[in-house]
Amino acid sequence: ASYKVGYFVGSLSSTSINRRLAQALTRLAPPELQLVEIPIKDLPVYSQDYDADYPPVARTFKQAIADCDALLFVTPEFNRSIPGGLKNAIDWASRPWGQNSLAHKPSGVIGTSPGAIGTAVAQSQLRGVLCYCNSPLMNTVEAYIHFKEGLITADGEVTNESTREFLRNYMTELHAFIVRVLTVLPRTT
Ligand code: FNR
Repeated sequence: ASYKVGYFVGSLSSTSINRRLAQALTRLAPPELQLVEIPIKDLPVYSQDYDADYPPVARTFKQAIADCDALLFVTPEFNRSIPGGLKNAIDWASRPWGQNSLAHKPSGVIGTSPGAIGTAVAQSQLRGVLCYCNSPLMNTVEAYIHFKEGLITADGEVTNESTREFLRNYMTELHAFIVRVLTVLPRTT
């Protein structure tokens, strides 16, 4: 079987190293995984006032999640936490109450930063949020990618062999996790 994995890039930067990482993961994924980006940049800042009538951009966003078997969060760390734009997207996805798009949707978390701990604090917080949103989360492999100049080229080629194999293994494990979860949980779509 093949699985559609929607990925979020937690950065809105035009030169995002996390977007490069997402491109690398797309290249390294096993053939059973089809990766598609779910864009977050056009979502307004969420308010409960929208719950009665979600705007088209948010409906499209929630439908894009519904169309995927699993989700992958590729994110930077901002001030030792989840970037606001990504948290905003998760808040949109989780509502209106009773229509949580993340429920039962298997997910993985990964990120890169030039800082030595490679987004570990942001990922830790993101894991807590995703658990609350009832998304079955891959516990292991963890992946804190310490970005150094040239590690991933603009078109997503990983130049360091051990990092490349580590990321390939991450995607192999993510695939196995998705298979396990979808074997025991009903698909929500
Ligand atoms: C950062 N950066 C950063 N890095 C880190 O490892 N821990 C942190 O807490 C922060 N905090 C932070 C806050 C803000 C507002 C910015 C703009 C940046 C640096 C960050 O890792 C670096 O800019 C990356 O390039 C961001 O990832 P993208 O946007 O290139 O994918």
